[in-house]
Amino acid sequence: MNTMKKGRLSLLVLVLSTILAPLGCAAGPPVREGAVPAEDVRVELVEWARLAQSAHNYQAWRIVLDPARGDRMDLFVETDRLLPETDPYSRQTLISLGTFLAVIDARAAQLGRRADIDLLPDGDLDDRDLARLPAARITLTRAEPTQSRFAAAADVDALTTATVKYRYRPAEIDAALADRITAWSGNGLRVEVVTEPDEVAWLNRVSIDAFTIEMEHEPTLMETYESTRWNGRARRQDPYGLAFTANFPRRTLWLADTMMTIAPQRPAAFGRTGVRLFTGALDDINTYIVLKTDDNSRRSQIEAGMALQAFWMELHSAGHVVLANSQALQEYPAMAPLYEEVHERLAPEGGTVQMLLAVARPRGGRHAFSPRFAAEELIVRR
Ligand SMILES: Cc1cc2nc3c(=O)[nH]c(=O)nc-3n(C[C@H](O)[C@H](O)[C@H](O)COP(=O)(O)O)c2cc1C
Repeated sequence: MNTMKKGRLSLLVLVLSTILAPLGCAAGPPVREGAVPAEDVRVELVEWARLAQSAHNYQAWRIVLDPARGDRMDLFVETDRLLPETDPYSRQTLISLGTFLAVIDARAAQLGRRADIDLLPDGDLDDRDLARLPAARITLTRAEPTQSRFAAAADVDALTTATVKYRYRPAEIDAALADRITAWSGNGLRVEVVTEPDEVAWLNRVSIDAFTIEMEHEPTLMETYESTRWNGRARRQDPYGLAFTANFPRRTLWLADTMMTIAPQRPAAFGRTGVRLFTGALDDINTYIVLKTDDNSRRSQIEAGMALQAFWMELHSAGHVVLANSQALQEYPAMAPLYEEVHERLAPEGGTVQMLLAVARPRGGRHAFSPRFAAEELIVRR
């Protein structure tokens, strides 16, 4: 490129950055570090739990505060935000209810409360109307923080660190941390830390193949494409769904936002770019966590999500990040061969693989948070 063209390009980038930078960077949940806790402790707990992990960041959480008891609230599935193509049986959604509950538990402990979490208090969920019955009833009592397994295992303050995706260095999990993670096994849950190179190579290969299917299968590609927020304005307007905040540090996020605003990629190109970036990212993965349950009940799915969030917090506290690779576990026909391959190899004795988590250390750079609903938008008052 000649000097004049380079000069014009720099000028264009400068002008665009001035105009569009505010679109890009202002997103993300205001983590209320140091803020005075909300007066109603239930709202305070939701304020933190909304930062939990959820499939496609859909935050399918609806919290109903008990009008008669200030110490009680129910958690329901928010059926306005399901992923029918990617998650046809809402298994990942139920895992995402578990993640929310783990943060409730851990934050309650931090505030000197115990959260008694009663799963499926009015019976199993109705698959035809997942929001008919509560998934969990939470009752708060005053207790010593150490009574919470989630608070003891994990650091809820890890939620004040933004996730980094695809910008990795290899993980360095010591034996003590690996033991703490596998100690979540029991009560129908099986947790394994995989570092054996051939097994990791196979998991990387399966993850890439599955990601490619998700991005080439039109219904799932379109669901992902439509759930992606291209810039800060979109993240504020619809504060759920996927964002590039984890993929690009703030320094370059505005550029990615600007490019996607001016010249948005079409779905097929978006899918191809995703596969390329994902494939490159897995080069540095040397560790996986495999999360399995003996059965595939709604209760087990929620419990798997609780454990998942505990690892997530614990690994973030230890300077690592976790990349959930759920594609090979998705239950639509195009994914069936990989789903079977994974289950034959990882669960030959039966059971359901609920999650494959690649573990890594993030490369440097400050990242913005993914969008989140404000607590009040998740809460229903009756
Ligand atoms: C059940 C479940 C499945 C997920 N699957 C994926 C996945 O396949 N790929 C991925 O990159 N992230 C996955 N995630 C992570 C979410 O995308 C992430 O939690 C969400 O976008 C919040 O973003 P944050 O970590 O930047 O706050 C999953 C999370 C959960 C709870």
